[in-house]
This record gives sequence, C-alpha cells and structure tokens, in this order.
Amino acid sequence: MDYRFSDAIANTPKSFIREILKLTQSDNIISFAGGLPNSALFPVDAIRHAAEHVLSRDGRNTLQYSTTEGHAPLRAWIAERYARHGMNVAPEQVLITNGSQQALDLLGKVFLNPGDAVALENPSYLGAIQAFRLFRPQFHSATLSTDGIDVAELQAVMRQHQCRFFYGIPNFQNPTGLSYSATTRQQLATMLQQEQQLMIEDDPYGALRFSGSSLPPVAALAPEQVVMLGSFSKVCAPGMRLGWMVAPAPVLAQLAVAKQAADLHSGYFSQRVLYQYLQDNNLDEHISQISHAYQQQQQAMVAALQQHLPPGIAHTTPEGGMFLWLTLPKHWSATDLFHIAVRHGVAFVPGEPFFADASQRHHLRMSYCTVDVATIHTGVQRLAAAMAEYAAQLPQHSKETQ
Ligand SMILES: Cc1ncc(COP(=O)(O)O)c(C=O)c1O
Repeated sequence: MDYRFSDAIANTPKSFIREILKLTQSDNIISFAGGLPNSALFPVDAIRHAAEHVLSRDGRNTLQYSTTEGHAPLRAWIAERYARHGMNVAPEQVLITNGSQQALDLLGKVFLNPGDAVALENPSYLGAIQAFRLFRPQFHSATLSTDGIDVAELQAVMRQHQCRFFYGIPNFQNPTGLSYSATTRQQLATMLQQEQQLMIEDDPYGALRFSGSSLPPVAALAPEQVVMLGSFSKVCAPGMRLGWMVAPAPVLAQLAVAKQAADLHSGYFSQRVLYQYLQDNNLDEHISQISHAYQQQQQAMVAALQQHLPPGIAHTTPEGGMFLWLTLPKHWSATDLFHIAVRHGVAFVPGEPFFADASQRHHLRMSYCTVDVATIHTGVQRLAAAMAEYAAQLPQHSKETQ
C-alpha cells in the first residue's frame, strides 16, 4: 500500500532524541541524555490517596466527560498562584492542557499558516521546534547568551520577517539551563509592547530554583503580549499529562476552540486527582525537596566536570532546572563524540537538533536529575575518556586550529 501522507507530517523528522536514546538503553550506560524528572521524587502515595479520595467520594462524576477549559477549581488554584509574581490572573484566563507540549501544538494551530515566520532562541527546545514544524513555518533565531535573549537582535528579526510570535524559555532553558536577567526581561517586555508582538513564554522549570532569587515572568511585565505556559510535569509527575496556558481573553477563546477539536478536554480523572493532591499536600514543600535533590546532583556534576574534563570545554552552571550545556571546541562534532561516549558507557544529547537550522554541532546537553551523585562522578570520568579518544583521532590540522 502506498500511504499518501500529508506534506506536513512527511516533512517533520522523527524525534532525533528518541532515536539516539534507543542506543543508550543498556544497563551498562550511564545516561545524562534523558530529559525526565527523577521518578524517585514522584509523590506516589499522596497521589494514590488522592485517587482513592475522588473515586470513593465522587466516582461517577470523576469518570464523566467534562469542560474543554478544564476543572474549574484547578484553574482557580493555578490563577491564584500567579499572585506571588505580582500577576493578576483570572481563572477564566487559564486553559488546562495535556502538558505544555499540547499547548505548543494548539498555539501552532491558532497562530500559524504555512510559511509564516516564528522567532526562536538559538538554541531552542527541540519539542517546540518539532510541534511548530507541523505547521510548516519559517524559523528565525536570535542569540541566547548568559543574560538571555538578545532583545535588539530579536526585535530586528521579528520586524524583518514579520514573525507571528517569539517562543522563549526565560527560566533554566531546555537545553542550555540559561535564564534571562531582570534587565533582559524588562527590555523584552518593552520591545513586545512597542512592536505589538506576541511571546509564547514557556516556563516548566521556573519553580525548580535552587539558588539566586526569582525574577518576574515576562508575562507579569507585558500581560497583553504574552501567552504563558506552565506544567505539572517537573514539579509533580509528567504521567498525569497536565499543564496549562494563561492567555489574554481573545487568544484563550481561540485556543479553547482548537482544544475542543483536538481532544474535547484533558483527562478529567487526572485533573480531579491532581486537584485533590494539591488540596491535601503542600506543593511548595514538595518542590523544595526536588530542588534540593537537583542542586546536590548539579553540584556533583559541576565538580566532576571541573575535575575531569580537558581544558577548552565550557559549561553553564544554572541556578535551577535540570540541564547543563557544554560547549566543545568549535571543530568538534558532539554527534561523533556521542558514538564514542556510548562505547565508553556514557550518554548525553548532542546539541545539533536544538538549533532550528542545525547550524552548530559543538554543544551537548547533560541532565543530572536521574543519576545519583556517585554515578555522576563515574559518568563524567567516562565522558572525559571519550573526549580524549575523540581528540586523539581528530586530524592534526583541526587539532591545531582548535
Ligand atoms: C521547555 C519545555 N517545554 C515543554 C515541555 C513539555 O513538557 P510537558 O508536556 O510534560 O509539560 C518540555 C519537556 O521537557 C520542555 O522542556
């Protein structure tokens, strides 16, 4: 049978990460490649209690269809929480989604026609690039550095290409771990207001801060210009598949239409269980346990990198989140290094697919959250051995020009 697939799906490559992770599924490999939270920290017993509670008290309703926008008390709980960022969010502005990944798909449906321009950070979250790619846009990137997005460059890019929106992750970005400074946030908010441009502010990691002080979301500074995405995946459990969007009323109305067409509503049972969990437990205490564990793991990884890696390799040291980003000498290929590293029993994610134009090959992403401190040390030693082997086999010329 000759299956005649749509141009959109035929032109969307399979997830590179999923493909390479297949190579790392052996017990002998220490994997820094996954983007998963640490399952040892999932609140299994509390979720079980919550599930029993809703089933025994209100089982028939809990298993029924529900509203597209989501369980009203859960929307109210989320809206309330934004007060801590000085934001005045109404429950009606919150739309519950199947994780923030679904939010990206719905935003593509609502805002993108084929050929439209989208502005991204360079590099950006691979899953967003993939979700938007189905709508066949043109991607244009602006530089991301230790202060965050280069606002002047972004402004020029958005003007030149008349971008539909800018997609950015201001807190502990995936893949780099970088965050926007207070000044960058303010400049970005002002630019969005002046240019009447839209930002999709994706924030699955902001609550996982283990040092420094928290900074306002861009949405707090330019509420009309920003659709904010949040998720319970990294602060509770990704298997619940629950996230949300906060959007200005006219945008939310269109998103609700797209959501209704996609799936009617997110799992009502999951929403009820999660809401019960949030009633019976203190999420902030749970988040501080997660952040504390990730901090210890990150410190172990940074110490091991500094002890074992050869000179000429830089890494970020984020104040939270799940990832570190390594920058190798310019002539190295992280994908070639990956294959050697797997032979040495360690895995990471090569950075190339995080660049929409695949333009940079000399970076890699390391996640520390699922590996214990002692194993992190061994994994980094293996990585250093793989780098030594890789460097030794490079042609003499490129070694000299590093
Ligand atoms: C930046 C970013 N956005 C969105 C997602 C999707 O997360 P979820 O759909 O589980 O909320 C992820 C997952 O890793 C992510 O890193």
